[in-house]
Amino acid sequence: TVLVVDFGAQYAQLIARRVRECHVYSEIVPCTMPVEEMLARKPKAIILSGGPSSVYAEGAPAVPAGLFDTGVPTLGICYGFQAMAQALGGRVAKTGVAEYGGTELRVQREGVLFAGLPATQRVWMSHGDGVASAPEGFTVTASTDETPVAAFEHPERGLYGVQFHPEVLHTEHGQAVLKHFLDAAGCRPSWTMLNIVEDAVEAVRAQIGPDGRAICALSGGVDSAVAAAIVQRAIGDRLTCVFVDHGLLRKGEAEQVERDFVAATGVKLRVVDAADRFLAALDGVTDPEEKRKIIGREFIRVFEDEQRSIMADRPVGFLVQGTLYPDVVESGGGTGTANIKSHHNVGGLPDDLRFELVEPLRTLFKDEVRRAGEELGLPPAMVWRQPFPGPGLAIRIVGAVTRERLDILREADAIAREELTRAGLDREIWQCPVVLLADVRSVGVQGDGRTYGHPIVLRPVTSEDAMTADWARVPYEVLSRISTRITNEVPQINRVVLDVTSKPPGTIEWE
Ligand code: XMP
Repeated sequence: TVLVVDFGAQYAQLIARRVRECHVYSEIVPCTMPVEEMLARKPKAIILSGGPSSVYAEGAPAVPAGLFDTGVPTLGICYGFQAMAQALGGRVAKTGVAEYGGTELRVQREGVLFAGLPATQRVWMSHGDGVASAPEGFTVTASTDETPVAAFEHPERGLYGVQFHPEVLHTEHGQAVLKHFLDAAGCRPSWTMLNIVEDAVEAVRAQIGPDGRAICALSGGVDSAVAAAIVQRAIGDRLTCVFVDHGLLRKGEAEQVERDFVAATGVKLRVVDAADRFLAALDGVTDPEEKRKIIGREFIRVFEDEQRSIMADRPVGFLVQGTLYPDVVESGGGTGTANIKSHHNVGGLPDDLRFELVEPLRTLFKDEVRRAGEELGLPPAMVWRQPFPGPGLAIRIVGAVTRERLDILREADAIAREELTRAGLDREIWQCPVVLLADVRSVGVQGDGRTYGHPIVLRPVTSEDAMTADWARVPYEVLSRISTRITNEVPQINRVVLDVTSKPPGTIEWE
């Protein structure tokens, strides 16, 4: 295990991901964790993350006492680098000129971190303070125009530091720098997908025991599918999956779950066709939050009914959830608490469902879940599916939800997805909501006649984590094909518009 000590949330997750990309398992721990507790996790190496504070500011997060005396190889990044320098007798000061963004790094000595790398390289900087002098015994290995000490190391003590951010893609050789540190720390690359899946299956088997039974609500998304596939592999048909088709799915998605997922996993599946019920409950509702509440509530009711009839047979003690590592980190790293987010099952499950949670993806990032899905033989279309909100197309119809409007949107969405896939843009684009402005009409002309139809909005975005996003620069030809096909093939639509808003200020979805 490599522990990533978190001094500021936005950096730590990325570092942990990069470490895992070197096939070494990593976990994020808060910087307030005492050193004994860190050592109890038997870390092979420790990485101190960057953070927003200045090390000499009032209340700046401190390096846990005694950390540098443990003998565990440690790499400090940005704030962690400065904190290391300060703790060991170096000097940190305002540099006068803040460096943000791409900067040229000059390597004076290759040392351990820069072994075999070019003497000048682009790195990503983001700091106002700098290390003015390195602690005694450390070798300064690199600098920039504004930063005399941009990297240092003391290999005998296993201590290393860099001012720049090796974890971001804008740092040319960042991954190599991390890898050199991990190699020097003796971390072996044993974190492979096969091991991850096998370990997860083993852990689930141990948790549920030889007679336990579990249920899982499938949403059609990749997380619940991979979680279910792992549990299925562990306990076979002592797992029952429930798929509530709320009628708000995209074209082909229900079939994907009913047919392809079952074929790939052999999972025992109960499909509930609840479209009528959801549509009735949504009748005339236009407020987005109200839509969400209604869908969440109905979902729970349907699921409870199913659960009761499954229980009538024999008791079920376990509930499978597709909780991911970022959710665990963001909710404070809580252990085993039933912190169920709306992202996993539409509305969240009620408190009086007395289940023990099974969360086989708790330690994984999204891309790892996808690779685990491939390892488990799930259909690629499912594994690489873009994120799709639990309330489904209901929050992509601006206005009241009706069956007819759903059909229109479903057709337009299918065309957009098909063309984006054909253009090979699936992995570049985070997701592309297609939104029907159901209460808006505009005049058009088609053939020889006047039309009075609805506009459709394309909202392709790029993102790392959906917290922030930018509008995707989809090539004009692709946009043009989508537009032509939608207006030709979906009679009620006579206008296609492109959303060019970043997030913030716009959210990804329109509602
Ligand atoms: P926003 O629109 O907030 O979306 O920028 C961020 C991400 O979350 C998804 N999303 C939802 N997912 N229930 C969900 O399960 C919801 O109510 C919901 N609203 C938004 C959205 O698709 C995007 O990936």
